[in-house]
Amino acid sequence: MTTSVDIADLLRAARIVPVLTIQDVATAVPLASALVAGGVRTLEVTLRTPVGAKAAEAIMAAVPGAIVGLGTVLTRRDLELAEAIGATFAFSPGATPDLLDAAAEAAILFVPGIATASELMAAMTRGFTTVKLFPAAQLGGTEALKALGGPFPEARFCPTGGISEKKALDYLALPNVVAVGGSWLAPSAEVAAGNWTAIEARARRAMSGTSP
Ligand code: 3PG
Repeated sequence: MTTSVDIADLLRAARIVPVLTIQDVATAVPLASALVAGGVRTLEVTLRTPVGAKAAEAIMAAVPGAIVGLGTVLTRRDLELAEAIGATFAFSPGATPDLLDAAAEAAILFVPGIATASELMAAMTRGFTTVKLFPAAQLGGTEALKALGGPFPEARFCPTGGISEKKALDYLALPNVVAVGGSWLAPSAEVAAGNWTAIEARARRAMSGTSP
């Protein structure tokens, strides 16, 4: 298994991880190129659409500098797919015992999702100290992360779910948050319209900490 230390470093360097649910594989490369041009290089491509894995492969093949992971990894099979296509990391919204067991044996960097202290404990028992808090805003947002920092000072979080461009900075200011994720970096209307300039500009604002 790969240690959580590696993924914590990767996410800390990333700071912001867009959650990309790609409907049309033709948008994958221009979308990723816009994000990378704006300084957002670490990308989560979800398996929520039939073209998710193909879109991730297209980005890996054609966008230098992109660090690509698969998201919405729900099963052992999804994790195997992430490894098979050469994704750098895999994110799950949850942490089932079977998925944690599979990830503990796999080489790919894995970030389980947790929503409770018990789920965090199950993940940490298998060596995953870097987790996704999902859905972060709905679970209490920054206050929930501060509270979890009490009993779990060694846990590191990448919160996602309900985070806005503006709120991202509040999360990133917390000592136990290594990165934030979300779909807000690439709104579906802008992707559908091919408004890559707007997506690049937002990525640049987010990375420079100048979001409104
Ligand atoms: C995720 O999978 O991390 C979330 O669906 C992202 O949530 P958001 O769309 O509210 O940013």
